[in-house]
Amino acid sequence: MCGIVAYMGSRQAAPLLLNGLRRLEYRGYDSAGMAVLNGGIDIRKDRGRIDDVNREHDFSSLKGTLGIAHTRWATHGEPSMKNAHPHTGCNGDIALVHNGIIENYKTLRELLESEGHVFSTDTDTEVLTHLIEKFYKGDFLGSVRKALMQIRGTYGIAVIHKGCNEVVVARNGSPLVIGVKRGEAFAASDASAILEHTKKMIYLDDGEVATLKPGGVVTVRNLFDKILEKNIEEIGWNLDQIEKGGFRHFMLKEIFEQPESIRNVMRGRLGKGIKLSINGELGDRKRVIIVACGSSWHSALIGRYLIESLSGVPAEVDYASEFRYREPLVGKDDLVIAISQSGETADTLAALKEAKRRGAKTLGVVNVVGSTIAREADMGVYIHAGPEIGVASTKAYTNQIIALLLIALDLAQKHGKKINQRLLSDMRKLPATLEHVLKEDKKIKAIADRVAEHGNFLYLGRGINYPTALEGALKLKEISYIHAEGYPAAEMKHGPIALIDENMPVVFIANKGKGYDKIVSNMEEVKARRGKIIAIATEGDNSIKSLSDWVIRVPRTADELSPVVNIIPLQLLAYYIADIKGLDVDKPRNLAKSVTVE
Ligand code: F6R
Repeated sequence: MCGIVAYMGSRQAAPLLLNGLRRLEYRGYDSAGMAVLNGGIDIRKDRGRIDDVNREHDFSSLKGTLGIAHTRWATHGEPSMKNAHPHTGCNGDIALVHNGIIENYKTLRELLESEGHVFSTDTDTEVLTHLIEKFYKGDFLGSVRKALMQIRGTYGIAVIHKGCNEVVVARNGSPLVIGVKRGEAFAASDASAILEHTKKMIYLDDGEVATLKPGGVVTVRNLFDKILEKNIEEIGWNLDQIEKGGFRHFMLKEIFEQPESIRNVMRGRLGKGIKLSINGELGDRKRVIIVACGSSWHSALIGRYLIESLSGVPAEVDYASEFRYREPLVGKDDLVIAISQSGETADTLAALKEAKRRGAKTLGVVNVVGSTIAREADMGVYIHAGPEIGVASTKAYTNQIIALLLIALDLAQKHGKKINQRLLSDMRKLPATLEHVLKEDKKIKAIADRVAEHGNFLYLGRGINYPTALEGALKLKEISYIHAEGYPAAEMKHGPIALIDENMPVVFIANKGKGYDKIVSNMEEVKARRGKIIAIATEGDNSIKSLSDWVIRVPRTADELSPVVNIIPLQLLAYYIADIKGLDVDKPRNLAKSVTVE
């Protein structure tokens, strides 16, 4: 949700900020803007994608070596030039960019207006600029600290003042990272924006504020002005991981990266048994509760299946947004697993904190290293998918499943269960299996060509592949805007069957294995009503052909791994349908990568 980037150094700021913004665009993309210090403060901003705003307003015409920039995902106030960040106060001395939501902005705005401040936007953010203006008496940092103390809500901010050669940044609930380099300093809501300049990062914690001063001098304080010692951490990501590398879209690149990302999540963790570098307390818990949102919630459903069937420990799954508000009966006997690609999802973070407050042990299953959930959880298992830039989750989703499988196996070991060596052997073969599935790419594109004009799709699966149906449907709807529903196949006859006719493509996850015969019966029922069937089926299963309009074949693997194998064709199907429709696959409308607001 919204991207922030800031620079203080000796180079021209605008080109650096523009590059940073482009890398952050996946976080939100309805407006963009930049402010550069140049005696006064020069600002360019507008509604639209970054490159469109740049074409119109030529960011590079802003001259100066200190600046801030923003790409927006609107919360308060429609996307428009006036609502685009940076925002200023009454006298134009301050420019500020913000990620997050200021909950008490109405009260503050009324108060400031009664004191004579004139507002020019519909945003919650603008109260901050007026507050800083109000408190400014020559001490810029002090005025920012005072203003932040009035705020209830979440923020990652970068702010400049025309009389001060420094950038002030702060965070509370919205990510903010500072990049350090000799003679220069950077800040961003996401390390990928500044990774091309430095890998050395300082992660701000909630309630911290930092100044970026000439010579690359960075000082971090708390809101009460106490200077804090912060570690500089070296980020392991590479630049080529955040570039398209010849692929048409990030999403396609990330789909094709899955053999490698699956290797990475298993690396060093899979021997004769499982080695997870988490302390031994996992095994003591009597129940596991998994909380997550969106695709991560789908991987959680698979995790529940894996944990219960492999370790015998009872497991539950909840939407993080529901868990946090439903007075959950959770306590010291429970292990609460929070799954999040970004590690910043507001609801998941709040659910994790609620679980901690109630005495549960918490475990983060996270992709982004150093993210808030990773740091907040008692224990963690990184999924090592590398940066995921496409808004629709692909490689993070499959890596989450494997991380959960590793946790399930670890729990099984701790409960003295014998580990199925065939499963481990199929896990080792999984990257090669996925490479094989990806070879179906052209065939899937041809199917996409035939079905792209339909307005509704149904996805059906059973058991461990019921979540695959949910995830397949989610992928299609979020990037192609086609209405799609996922169901447990047996539920079809309790309602959705009424929708079936020749205009309704139904995607069946129909691998050989548990529940196969039952899925075949459901396919018969669809066929009898002239529905169009796309079947994901096991190689060598020829009987399924007569029931299906199209068959996508995948190699046989352990049931536990089948959700990873089966989702690849469904990711490709969604991708090609969206691309055929000419849609912006990596930046679907209304969505943003990291949902840091409720
Ligand atoms: C769908 C998708 C979202 C995220 C959800 C949670 O493709 O990406 O549904 O899965 O917003 O995000 P994280 O995993 O970052 O907590």
